[in-house]
Formats: sequence, structure tokens, C-alpha cells
Amino acid sequence: MKTKNITDIREAANLLQKEEVVAFPTETVYGLGANARSDEAVAKIFAAKGRPSDNPLIVHIGALEQLETVASNIPDVAQTLIHHFWPGPLTIVLLKKEGLSDLVTAGLETVGVRMPSHPVALQLLKETQLPIAAPSANVSGRPSPTTGKHVAEDLNGKISGIVDGGPTGIGVESTVIDCTTAIPVILRPGGVTREQIEAVIGTVQFDGSFKNSKEAPKSPGMKYTHYAPNAPLTIVKGSQAFLQNLINEQRMKGNKVGVLTTEENLEAYEADVVLGCGKKVDILSIAQNLYGVLRSFNEYDVNLIYSESFIDLGLGLAVMNRLLKASGYRIIEE
Ligand code: TXA
Ligand code: MG
Repeated sequence: MKTKNITDIREAANLLQKEEVVAFPTETVYGLGANARSDEAVAKIFAAKGRPSDNPLIVHIGALEQLETVASNIPDVAQTLIHHFWPGPLTIVLLKKEGLSDLVTAGLETVGVRMPSHPVALQLLKETQLPIAAPSANVSGRPSPTTGKHVAEDLNGKISGIVDGGPTGIGVESTVIDCTTAIPVILRPGGVTREQIEAVIGTVQFDGSFKNSKEAPKSPGMKYTHYAPNAPLTIVKGSQAFLQNLINEQRMKGNKVGVLTTEENLEAYEADVVLGCGKKVDILSIAQNLYGVLRSFNEYDVNLIYSESFIDLGLGLAVMNRLLKASGYRIIEE
């Protein structure tokens, strides 16, 4: 299959209406879209990504009126969240309505829905007037794509087209919140922070499994390895001197060592490759660059990677969650 570089949104909408799959930018990461009502179309997403079929997809809508065509029994708390955070990086899990492909919901009674705020995504969704299922547009297990080039690296020849809208704004995925329980539960930290949510609807629950791999995951997607670079990644919680010692030990054994740090600390380590991921004082810049830097490590010949650890408040919670998953929960503490 030849993957087209699409510049006309109408062309992308036409392809989606003809059951084809097309990648498009959102404010979080690039999505790989297909008509959520069509088994044929949604099956193409799973095939292109090599995604396990028990991991449900988020349904994207371009207008509020569409919500009641995909979800039912929408509780007040969800309405409040929608009022405050849509369009934007918040996915709300609700009871589903008949008519969606069972592949989208992986057989669950619920559906995750979001209205993205990226102008290209919104325009495309409005143009198709379809609910669009869209996971991140990467090969399953690889870091999510934050540029059109990342999408092409993974999916060229496997999908009908890519709408390249430049780098995405937030760089990590949407927050997923389950509103089918008495107290809403955050299943995945993301672009809308826990603090922002609690300011609006009060205390929410947190599914601990995103911090601890041993607890059973409630969001099916949370049990798979994600975002991993080729070389094994370990998070280091401790001082620069502690991290430098670890590097030295590995190099003494003949290993080539990569380090993931921030721009402030680029000169702080002596290792084989040192890559900076945004600025420590600006957590948004770290989120924006995280997946790109994880991908970049594959261009270098390193045997292992050590990453500094970041503060897990606000957007930092999503950053640390993705890093933990990329590391397979490997952490060394001083
Ligand atoms: O920012 C985003 O959310 C991006 C962009 C493209 O919108 N999409 C995205 O999709 O991250 P994906 O498929 O990579 O992640 C969807 C997450 C998975 O962890 C999945 O398990 C969870 O949402 N999810 C989807 N539907 C669910 C449901 N009904 N119940 C619980 N979790 C659900
Ligand atoms: Mg994903």
C-alpha cells in the first residue's frame, strides 16, 4: 500500500468515509483514525499497529451532539468534566451505545470518548461527521508519535494516508477517567492533570496500577509494554553522582551507556550518549520531547539507558507513568 501525504482535510475525510485508515495530529499525540462504526475499518487499525485485540480504542468526536450517539446514561460528573475540559486531552469512559464496532470496545460495555482540541483533528472530525476510533499512530509497543515523521517511520506502507500537522502540543496522551463508577477513577494520567480535575469535581480515585505493575490493570491497555526504546531503560532516583557511578560501572563492563536527562544537565554526565529532553523547570517541555527522545536512542549504539527521574506532580505524573512503562518498571534508588 502506498501511504499518501495528505494536505487536504477533505481528502482525509473521504478516505475515512471509505473505511480507510488515516493518521492525523491531535494536541496530545498523532492518532490513527478509522470509522468507529465499521468492523472493516477498525480491523485495519489493529492490523497496521499490530495491536492486541483486547485493548479498546478511544472514540473521537467533533461536536457535542455526537456524544449521545456513542454513549448513554451520561452522569452529571461527566457533563461537568466535558464543560471544563472539552475540547481537550481528556477521555471519558461511559456506558456505550449500540452501533459501534465491537472491535472498538474490545467487547466491554463501556466506551472511552474524547473531543480533541487540535484544529486539524476537529476539522477532520467535523468533515466526516463520523465517530472516529483512534489509538496513537505508532506500531504497538513503540513510543507514541509526536510528529508526522514518527508516524511515517512506523506505518509507511501500512496505512492510506498521513495528515502532517507538525509537532503535537502536549506530547503525552489524554487522561483517561472512568465515570461509570460512583467515584470517578483516573485510569491513565495524561494531558489534563489530577489537580485540574479535582478542582472541578472533587476527589477522584486513582488506579494504582499505573504506578505499580503488580496490581491488576483496570484499563486493558495498561498491561502491555509500551513506549520502549530498543536498549533496556532504567529509571534512576538519586543524585547526579549516584547516576554517574552507575554509568561508570557499566562502562567498566564494556557496555555503551545512554543517559536521558534535561537540557540543564547535558554536561553533567560522562557517558556514551547523553540526550536532553526539555527543561527541568518546564515539565510541559519534557512531556513534548519525551517520546521523540525515546525514539532517538534507537539511532545510537547503546547497550542500556539510564533516565533521570522527574517530579510526579501535574503533567509530571503522566511523564513518569510513561517513563515507568518504557522501563518495564525498572527503577534504581540511591
Ligand atoms: O491522547 C490520546 O488519547 C491519543 C490520541 C490519538 O487521541 N489516543 C490514545 O489511544 O492514546 P490509545 O489507544 O493509544 O490508548 C487508549 C487508552 C488505552 O489505555 C485503553 O485501554 C484505554 O484508553 N481505554 C479505551 N477505552 C476504554 C474503556 N472502555 N475502558 C477502559 N479503558 C479504555
Ligand atoms: Mg498508545
